[in-house]
Amino acid sequence: MRKLDQILEKKAVILLGIESSCDDTSMAVLVDGVVASNVTYNQAIHAKYGGVIPEWASRKHMEAVVPVFEEAMKNANCQLKDLDGIAVTRGPGLMGSLVVGLCFAKGLSLSLDIPLIEVNHLEAHVLSLLIEDPRPSFPFLCLTVSGGHTQLVVVKDYDQLEVIGKTLDDAAGEAFDKTGKLLGLTYPAGPEMDKLADLGQPIFKFPVSKMKELDYSFSGLKTSVLYFLQDRLKEDPSFIHNHLNDLCASIQHTIVEILCHQLLKASAQTGIKQIGIAGGVSANSGLRKKIRSLAEINGWEVFMPRMEYCTDNAAMIAMGGYHKWKKGIFSEDDIEPLARMPIGT
Ligand code: KG4
Ligand code: ZN
Repeated sequence: MRKLDQILEKKAVILLGIESSCDDTSMAVLVDGVVASNVTYNQAIHAKYGGVIPEWASRKHMEAVVPVFEEAMKNANCQLKDLDGIAVTRGPGLMGSLVVGLCFAKGLSLSLDIPLIEVNHLEAHVLSLLIEDPRPSFPFLCLTVSGGHTQLVVVKDYDQLEVIGKTLDDAAGEAFDKTGKLLGLTYPAGPEMDKLADLGQPIFKFPVSKMKELDYSFSGLKTSVLYFLQDRLKEDPSFIHNHLNDLCASIQHTIVEILCHQLLKASAQTGIKQIGIAGGVSANSGLRKKIRSLAEINGWEVFMPRMEYCTDNAAMIAMGGYHKWKKGIFSEDDIEPLARMPIGT
């Protein structure tokens, strides 16, 4: 591999991580596995459309990619010549978004003559638990809950991840975003629902879907919230306005119950008591509180990333790249982005 001998002689390994799979443009510099900078630009434009518009997402990535790169390098006090490799999200994600980050990564890798390292976005979310202390040891169980995915993953090693349960329809983040849209909240509704839920009580009951195996389903919740609201609005047109906090608390409570029901089963089935959560929804205060209380009852040791590392970020991509780097696993220059990229591929 290119320049590898010279690079391995250097004391510190300095990697640039690049993430652009959805609507966040993020870059991070990692020095010997320690985050030196992590800069994330979130595209606010999607809020007014109620969801991510793929065409806008790729255009905004193109605008942001250079300024975010310059800021990440400046914050880490890093120069181009210092970089030893480029770790980049190859998938899964939106093709138009992925292609911007990947092209930028290929350009840097070719011009600097340093390795390109592809990283699976979902594996990186799991590895966000290993960015800083306290870190779980292997094996641990990770509940990855984001806008696009909901998965239960047994993590035996950096490159040995087994999905033992997943959503069959909507992801947990989508459940927050779609029910939030019914309440008139701005996209993405998860963070706002979290804040409003804190001011209310879960007095409205919605069905908690309980799947037989370790899979999840959230589409029933969205439908039941829709019918419930249609019913109540007939009697009281201000129902949502008058009960917004309690509605948020009730929906959040239901999503958290669904998530934790399967997590408990997964821990019992695998016998694993080191439990981590990752992905955007792992920032949810109701979920974090519930998992902490379950930890006390079940003797779990729980791990939750700092907020900055819950939602999409390049530090987790750089971390995924670092473990491949140490094994000398590099990518060809002509790899293409993958909209679908299951864990382990
Ligand atoms: O991991 P992420 O940044 O992007 C994906 O890979 O999807 O997750 C974004 C999702 C959105 O659905 C957003 O509503 C949700 O994470 N989210 C939250 C919170 N913060 C972000 N959901 C509930 N409570 C939060 N505090
Ligand atoms: Zn993500």
